[in-house]
Amino acid sequence: MTSTQITDMNAPDKPNLQDLRVSYDLDALDESSAPSDPFILFHDWLHDALQHQLPEPNAMTLATIGQGGIPTARIVLLKGLDDRGFHFYTNYQSRKGQELAENNRAAICFLWTARQRQVTARGLVWKLPHDEAKSYFAARPRSHQIGAWASTQSQIIPDRSHLESRAAELEAEYADKPIPCPPHWGGYSLVPDEIEFWQGRTSRLHDRLRYLREGNHWTRHRVSP
Ligand SMILES: Cc1cc2nc3c(=O)[nH]c(=O)nc-3n(C[C@H](O)[C@H](O)[C@H](O)COP(=O)(O)O)c2cc1C
Repeated sequence: MTSTQITDMNAPDKPNLQDLRVSYDLDALDESSAPSDPFILFHDWLHDALQHQLPEPNAMTLATIGQGGIPTARIVLLKGLDDRGFHFYTNYQSRKGQELAENNRAAICFLWTARQRQVTARGLVWKLPHDEAKSYFAARPRSHQIGAWASTQSQIIPDRSHLESRAAELEAEYADKPIPCPPHWGGYSLVPDEIEFWQGRTSRLHDRLRYLREGNHWTRHRVSP
């Protein structure tokens, strides 16, 4: 790309990105006090994010790998966490669904900016049983249920009215009736083999603790920032 193709972010009326920086000094992460089970630490940090009323604390970036090794990242919401891993719900026919069907290796990343924290995890992604999707779907607001049927997620559509008229048709079709869970909508679980916790520190000497799964237990390692 030549310089004429990009916006000059250093022009007087533009934000100077090179001057944007924050000093991180809220907390520390030490192996002497960190739990040996990374799920316990993740629960602590998620709870902390909830207590601090951070916006969408369960939002995570999900990165998948497409044909030719081309990655795609997008945000999804964490909707469950148990021994099987980190759960999220989506359209199985979406780009992410198609990519996961071809290659179920993926990564997730949580950012809690106001707490100067990041959690990343890598692992294999598996579909959750459809019964779990059905019970979660039944608990969703009706408008979201309509949305799941109306959206051909990731497909190119002619315009917004195409989507809205499809939603209106579905509203009429299901008036006074329960809306079933679409067969193409459901949950996945990312089962981590690596989880890393990052706590911002001063002078860019951040704390990083990386947990690696070895069989049934986790080993913990300090990583250079
Ligand atoms: C805050 C936020 C939460 C989102 N949560 C979800 C979600 O839980 N599931 C989902 O399928 N898409 C969710 N999305 C939309 C996705 O980022 C994405 O646009 C969509 O899933 C299509 O992705 P794909 O084409 O890569 O498959 C969310 C977006 C944002 C910004």
